Amino acid sequence: MEPVNVGLLGLGTVGGGTVTVLKRNASEIARRAGRGIVITHAAARDIHSKRKINLDGIKLTADGFAVVNDPQVQVVVELIGGDTIARELVLQAIQNGKHVVTANKALIAKHGNELFALAQQRGVMIAFEAAVAGGIPIIKTLREGLAGNRIEWLAGIINGTGNFILSEMRSKGRDFHDVLKEAQHLGYAEADPTFDVEGIDAAHKLTILAAIAFGIPLQFSKVYTEGITRISADDIRYAEELGYRIKHLGIAKHHDKGIELRVHPTLIPESRLIANVDGVMNAVVVKGDAVGPTLFYGAGAGAEPTASAVVADLVDVVRALTTDPENRVPHLAFQADALVNAPILPMRHVETTYYLRLKAQDRIGVLADVTRILSEQGINIEAILQKEPAVPGSDVHIILLTHRVLEKHMDEAIARIEALESITDDVMRLRVETLS
Ligand code: NDP
Ligand code: HSE
Repeated sequence: MEPVNVGLLGLGTVGGGTVTVLKRNASEIARRAGRGIVITHAAARDIHSKRKINLDGIKLTADGFAVVNDPQVQVVVELIGGDTIARELVLQAIQNGKHVVTANKALIAKHGNELFALAQQRGVMIAFEAAVAGGIPIIKTLREGLAGNRIEWLAGIINGTGNFILSEMRSKGRDFHDVLKEAQHLGYAEADPTFDVEGIDAAHKLTILAAIAFGIPLQFSKVYTEGITRISADDIRYAEELGYRIKHLGIAKHHDKGIELRVHPTLIPESRLIANVDGVMNAVVVKGDAVGPTLFYGAGAGAEPTASAVVADLVDVVRALTTDPENRVPHLAFQADALVNAPILPMRHVETTYYLRLKAQDRIGVLADVTRILSEQGINIEAILQKEPAVPGSDVHIILLTHRVLEKHMDEAIARIEALESITDDVMRLRVETLS
């Protein structure tokens, strides 16, 4: 049988990894797919740039539309990123009746509803395993392996760059910006790294995971998003003294009243497996009603781990070339006409436990004022640490762990605490999850 011709858009970190893995494992891949899979065309901004990949036999162009409009190209792999030119190219590919594989979470999270509808009309597939958690096959797992379950919640470390930064800060005391630079050099970070450190990339991924887990439309704008830029070395140390690790988590929970979608730094008991996932590694815990808790672990970013997911999608697409569109696995796991519009809960209605770090003047009565405010808001304290001032007479850090409370009560308590004259800085609030 003739090999399947692939047009590749983007020859950067993931594009390069995809060329390498497809060439290196060509015969194994062909044995699995039933046909060879060959990159015949590729686009990059600078086609004269020196690359450490073997581009023999690939027709290069700087015009992505020349690839998606070429009648010889049967499957388009989009690895440019962003949701401007990438969206136009993917729309054009679908209009041309070509299947698409992409690693682009921003594109899927923001425009997936539109793209999947068009793909369904045109009878083509959009595969996006690499868009979430790099090399971990979490999309396939949720869509197929756990299809018998009602998913109750999932929580994951789903940004490799952020986890790399927090791990290096904790284990080696390294500086945030220095580690971020290294993550960029290693090809982990997004083109705009604020997407990684401000939680936007994780929010894109959580949008996708939640849609597939719960059978809801993609709703990126409703994800509560906080990044890791405010985490200090002190917070990491205090959390450790209390028996916790700080991890940047994406959390989606299904309640009777609606769905929680939130991305933020989280204290996790250090005994949990996921609390010990370090470096660029990602991990996702999925709790299904039948299977119970399951944990999926692997590299969350990088050339070949991500290429592993891109190539697996290509194999799936090739295997499905001869199936009727209505017999394929639905893009969002549930049949397109069976998605439900469950409400996404506003953050004020989310209940959790909290870590608070206060900076206060070192004088009598401060702690009494703080605990009075918390008790008036109905907030129970589980633990308090007061750190000696570095220099006698200077401000002190007070660290509190609370019991579960609604976010709106905590918002009110924090506003009142910050208004105290003796509190000299904004309160640092982190959420705590036991994931039990
Ligand atoms: P890179 O920046 O390394 O690569 C982007 C590629 O796109 C480059 O080859 C660039 O060309 C090319 N390009 C940019 N604009 C155009 C254009 N207008 N026309 C044609 N080609 C263009 O990105 P990554 O490989 O890191 O990421 C690609 C996608 O994969 C993104 O969606 C990202 O979010 C996702 N992803 C990345 C992971 C990672 O570990 N890096 C992991 C999982 C997903 P040139 O080389 O000439 O500049
Ligand atoms: N920038 C992303 C990360 C790439 O660090 O996780 C993988 O999606």
